[in-house]
Amino acid sequence: MGELKIPIKNEYDIVSARQAVRELSRELGFGTVDQVRIATAVSELVRNVVLYAGHGLMIVQTLKSNGNTGIEIVIEDQGPGIGDPDLALCDGFSTSGGLGAGLPGARRLMDFFDVNTTCGRGTKILTRKWLK
Ligand SMILES: Nc1ncnc2c1ncn2[C@@H]1O[C@H](COP(=O)(O)OP(=O)(O)OP(=O)(O)O)[C@@H](O)[C@H]1O
Ligand SMILES: [Mg+2]
Repeated sequence: MGELKIPIKNEYDIVSARQAVRELSRELGFGTVDQVRIATAVSELVRNVVLYAGHGLMIVQTLKSNGNTGIEIVIEDQGPGIGDPDLALCDGFSTSGGLGAGLPGARRLMDFFDVNTTCGRGTKILTRKWLK
């Protein structure tokens, strides 16, 4: 299975990104609850791209390793970057008057979560979930 690229241009793409990962995770065999977990994490990450960076890209692919199956999602933008990523992953931290629940919530919903960001250059989040 190849990779799926979904450009993030505006808030309507939050819905398309959400639907695309939900569908792929269902095809891979994830149960309803995990499908919703993955889709919810993606919604938050894509929403952040739209809000803070304006636009970006989501790349989704299937993982196969030692008989395990997973889904890998990369969400990247060339926006302002996150000043302090450790702080941004704390519950309640927001620079926009939001709840500050998006990033920490998305991290909890997934199995692996890596934030790579450089001030002034952008943000790349790589996240994975494995089928149990
Ligand atoms: N792609 C991004 N580019 C730049 N800054 C970001 C990005 N994603 C998150 N941030 C920063 O990290 C902070 C925390 O993000 P998080 O999604 O947890 O909360 P929020 O967006 O402020 O509120 P909400 O709970 O509504 O999502 C944001 O306030 C913002 O400063
Ligand atoms: Mg957010």
